[in-house]
Amino acid sequence: MDLDQKLQVLTNCHLATMRGGAAGFGKVKNATIVRDNANIIWVGCAKELPQQYQNLSQTDLEQRWVLPAFVDCHTHLIYAGNRIAEFEQRLNGASYEQIAKAGGGIISTVKATRSATESELITQSLPRLQQMQQFGTGTIEIKSGYGLTIEDEIKMLRAARDLGRIEGVRVSTSLLGAHALPPEFIGQSDAYIDMVVEEMLPKIAVLGLADAVDVFCENIAFSLEQTKRVFEKSVTLGLPIRLHGEQLSNSHGCQMAAEMGALSCDHLEYLDEAGAKAMADAGTVAVLLPGAFYFLKETKTPPVNLLRKHGVAMAIATDCNPGSSPTTSLPLMLSMAVTFFGLTPDEALAGVTRNAAKALGLGQQIGQIAPGFTADLVAWDINSPAELCYGFGACPLNERV
Ligand code: NIG
Ligand code: FE
Repeated sequence: MDLDQKLQVLTNCHLATMRGGAAGFGKVKNATIVRDNANIIWVGCAKELPQQYQNLSQTDLEQRWVLPAFVDCHTHLIYAGNRIAEFEQRLNGASYEQIAKAGGGIISTVKATRSATESELITQSLPRLQQMQQFGTGTIEIKSGYGLTIEDEIKMLRAARDLGRIEGVRVSTSLLGAHALPPEFIGQSDAYIDMVVEEMLPKIAVLGLADAVDVFCENIAFSLEQTKRVFEKSVTLGLPIRLHGEQLSNSHGCQMAAEMGALSCDHLEYLDEAGAKAMADAGTVAVLLPGAFYFLKETKTPPVNLLRKHGVAMAIATDCNPGSSPTTSLPLMLSMAVTFFGLTPDEALAGVTRNAAKALGLGQQIGQIAPGFTADLVAWDINSPAELCYGFGACPLNERV
């Protein structure tokens, strides 16, 4: 077969390329894209389409805006059950920390997830993944962390990989064995970390089920010292690291994680300048999670001006989970990022594409529209890219192209 027959020409569209400096990205009006099955081959103004592509059949995108498929770089998509009863307790005045300290919170989802089979986890999580795709997401990071035994963490990570295969979506997995202290280790958190470091990490590394390792460093979770032990072992095993840090207090976890080369530090409401500087020096991405900020009714916003001042790349994610952010919608997170956190629409959009890809270590493959990048594209029925940050609660029509 003629090689050119495998090429597809998308034309009569506008592009938000996601290429450019920290504060903006290139926009190309009346553009054309040439792609093959996997990759973008050529991008530019329609009138500059090279001769060699001019006789191929063209797909008319009817003046829609094309963006890279969104990258949701922080989710806990796989879990069983829900936390609606706790939500009602919080509406009546209980705090997230109080519920966690009373044995609820993450641990109540651990109990439900341990009781579920891998196939039940897939069945319960699949609708969430399908919703995400309807909201324009094409790549998703999925954490374990509701199993907290080797077997149950493996079950979650297998379910995550299987879901990606079932839906044809790119999934990047993070082992979050150090998410919360399981009930059988109460009063022995160092012994739990010993188990994570000596048994869980090596076993899961050999199975190739984790693309990275995450830790929840917080006074209701694990200390700086414990977090460091998990990261040291991960680095030894060749696994990239990321952190849930400075969400409810400043534990200085982000500075340490950045100094150890973390791909990302996430949440960051309590991040200080030393932490921001360390992240800038290491190229660690700041992942902001406005859904958790909203749902926990937090009042302290992440230090966006400090992140800007030091040139830290900012990403935005759903944090999809049953306790602090039961949402699947990146468009809603875009609205919250600009309204609550003061990001510009361009910063927010870079945060769900280029910078989110970087947070997963995939910054050279996805999240931008340029030759050589994966042709994972979404055409949006909008008048300008900022419209994706403008409406909330509904989502403009979109189509994978
Ligand atoms: O990102 N911060 C810790 N982990 C999740 C919450 C998980 C849960 O409450 O189930 C988060 O907010
Ligand atoms: Fe999270």
